[in-house]
Amino acid sequence: LIHLLSTEGLPRDILLHILDTAQQFVSVNDREVKKVPLLRGKSVFNLFFENSTRTRTTFEIAATRLSADVFNLDIARSSTAKGETLLDTIANLSAMAADIFVVRHSESGAPYLIAQHVAPHVHVINAGDGRHAHPTQGLLDMYTIRHYKGDFRNLSVAIVGDVLHSRVARSDIHALTTLGCPDVRVVGPRTLVPSDLAQLGVRVCHSLQEGIRDCDVVIALRLQNERMSGALLPSSQEFHQSFGLTPQRLRWAKPDAIVMHPGPVNRGVEIDSSVVDGAQSVVLPQVTFGIAVRMAVMGIIAGNEA
Ligand code: CP
Repeated sequence: LIHLLSTEGLPRDILLHILDTAQQFVSVNDREVKKVPLLRGKSVFNLFFENSTRTRTTFEIAATRLSADVFNLDIARSSTAKGETLLDTIANLSAMAADIFVVRHSESGAPYLIAQHVAPHVHVINAGDGRHAHPTQGLLDMYTIRHYKGDFRNLSVAIVGDVLHSRVARSDIHALTTLGCPDVRVVGPRTLVPSDLAQLGVRVCHSLQEGIRDCDVVIALRLQNERMSGALLPSSQEFHQSFGLTPQRLRWAKPDAIVMHPGPVNRGVEIDSSVVDGAQSVVLPQVTFGIAVRMAVMGIIAGNEA
């Protein structure tokens, strides 16, 4: 593995290797992550051209725990604002001896463009590109599901909300199907969950009751207002009325179903506060597992080099 750009096409053995490696970075109480010298002397550049709280911070923590030097480019104050192109920015940062670029960009494909132009020893990790992919979120979601549910082969997983514009949904779907999950459902209104998503090997449901009935895992997604035109955008109230996850509706899932959300959460829209903060929610453990998963990804792609 040289770059991590998508979970699509990642073989099952590599997915499992990443999850197993992440497990080694999680201690017995599931919270503390050990510091190791795997990336000592390496430089990790965090390039977030789009806002982030969880991904950016956990990449920084993960790189620090691998003993790398971490640099966070402040894009708003960078020469990007003066019109410097993406590839010129990358060329100049490469001249500062970068080893790993962690890239988030609103344009789908931006990390691929960068990966085509960096030197062979430089690695690119996609931290979310447009509506296309968010592979480390997909991986931490798989880690979380495996942690709470064990095997993927008997699970029903429902992904509820704005699937059309969600890079998380796509990364989750590719990983879940590769890992052998037999029942993946995408659930929401027709404008946000079009029927052609069935091409991804999932069941399309336009009723929340049908979509989450007896499932083991419910993944709620935010309305990606920033990626929608007005015609598609349902009002928050409309969405909540039909697809908002409330304590009453969660009873349609299995009693021991876990509730996940990649964040940021819009409380009272796609999910009620009492569900986010409730006994079935694993939203915050997802964030914690993200550190170990990102350590694993960076360690695997760059950890065995001189
Ligand atoms: N899940 C996620 O990508 O969150 P951030 O946008 O805060 O990084």
